[in-house]
Amino acid sequence: IMWSLCVAVMLSAASTRGLDPPRVLVVGGTGRIGTAVAVHLLQRERGARVVLAGRDKERGRRAVAEVLTEARGAAVEFSQFDYRSLSVADLAGLFRSNQVDAVVHVAGPFYGVVPTVLDASIEAGVRVYADVSDPLEYIEMATRMDQRALAAGTSAILCAGAFPGMSNVLAVEAATTLGAAPRDLNFSYFTAGLGGSGALNLEITNFGFGGGMTRVVDGRLVDSRDLPGTDLGRKTFPGLGRKEVWAWPFPECATVAKELGISGSSVAGMGTAPTIWNGLLRALVGIVPRKWWTNPLFSVGLARFSEPLVRVTDAFVGETHAMRIDVSSATSVMTVVQAHESFRRCVGQSCAEFCLDLLAHPRTGVHLPESLYRDDSARARIVDRLTSTPGTTAFQMSKSD
Ligand SMILES: NC(=O)c1ccc[n+]([C@@H]2O[C@H](COP(=O)([O-])OP(=O)(O)OC[C@H]3O[C@@H](n4cnc5c(N)ncnc54)[C@H](OP(=O)(O)O)[C@@H]3O)[C@@H](O)[C@H]2O)c1
Ligand SMILES: *[C@@H]1O[C@H](CO)[C@@H](O)[C@H](O)[C@H]1NC(C)=O
Repeated sequence: IMWSLCVAVMLSAASTRGLDPPRVLVVGGTGRIGTAVAVHLLQRERGARVVLAGRDKERGRRAVAEVLTEARGAAVEFSQFDYRSLSVADLAGLFRSNQVDAVVHVAGPFYGVVPTVLDASIEAGVRVYADVSDPLEYIEMATRMDQRALAAGTSAILCAGAFPGMSNVLAVEAATTLGAAPRDLNFSYFTAGLGGSGALNLEITNFGFGGGMTRVVDGRLVDSRDLPGTDLGRKTFPGLGRKEVWAWPFPECATVAKELGISGSSVAGMGTAPTIWNGLLRALVGIVPRKWWTNPLFSVGLARFSEPLVRVTDAFVGETHAMRIDVSSATSVMTVVQAHESFRRCVGQSCAEFCLDLLAHPRTGVHLPESLYRDDSARARIVDRLTSTPGTTAFQMSKSD
């Protein structure tokens, strides 16, 4: 009896924990972030199989070759489809026929789109879903699928990149370590140029200047149209010194602040290198009418126009990134910093780690990182993973009065 009990326990552990190497489909897997997700998945999980999905066959061929140079002998294939031209039913059919354990969605931008990839993953009963979304509207639409994900047995995580993503979890860690009622919560980021990510991210940054921003003031959510692009002062980053930071509509200053129930204010911003870009962008935001930024003619046009110059300067500034999160109480401030030699790698690694963690420890429903890792032991596990990935150059938490 003991023996069969043991076997039964082992079998059920194997099936719920997915001890078989997972098969992961990466929508947008042929892009800069996508290949970084694939490489980390394959390096971390021996025997994992990855499908890179995108619209362009040639780009697919190159992406598979690129991943194989870093993960020799790994099982990587390309699948050609345009997720935006497929119905939810067709996408679900595709996920079923590919027998995937997890779907990772990094084919942004996530502005002005509905969460069809999540919808289809739930429809197909895929075990794990992770994306690198960031607009609040998208997050709201996606979290409304929570009950369906619960019923389908799908564990889904949104905003599973570096920021938002790792930053959300580190903010909860800092607030918990502070051990007192949190007052302010500020997120400051630095990325050298594009940080190795695709040119698409220039467009996304431009769009962000026109859509307004939700932040927290005196413990209440406040929408401000004129905040994006405005100066938030200089912040000290590990190994980089003081850098300019300007406001940008990262969702975490609303979602994490709400999760932690802060009583003061929360805002998020970023800065870049070379320094001159910060001044140029802020000057442009000052003179260009807000509504132009949400017009693709302007935002995409400006991105295309500035891309060659960004490519040139990127060769000099590298792809470093750093984040700094400050959480205050009535008496002290807890500051957590993290830095990585490559933004693109860090986003990919974070996304892969969140995905692997959910495969090993399923939590059905649709979650944000801050609620999924509110629990101390779950958070300790993921913080360990996220802050020790190859290329990490700093991780530190310190308290000041
Ligand atoms: N949270 C974070 O920390 C963070 C940081 C940086 C970026 N991001 C997100 O990551 C996303 C990807 O950035 P990236 O630098 O990897 O951009 P990228 O290099 O342009 O990659 C995007 C990939 O998606 C594919 N794709 C685009 N539309 C598609 C569609 N309709 N169907 C199938 N595949 C499609 C593209 O290939 P084809 O053109 O051949 O289809 C491309 O391979 C961004 O949109 C951004 O939202 C998040
Ligand atoms: C957070 O940012 C606000 C606005 O920039 C500032 O007034 C506040 O002092 C900051 N708090 C912390 C803890 O950094």
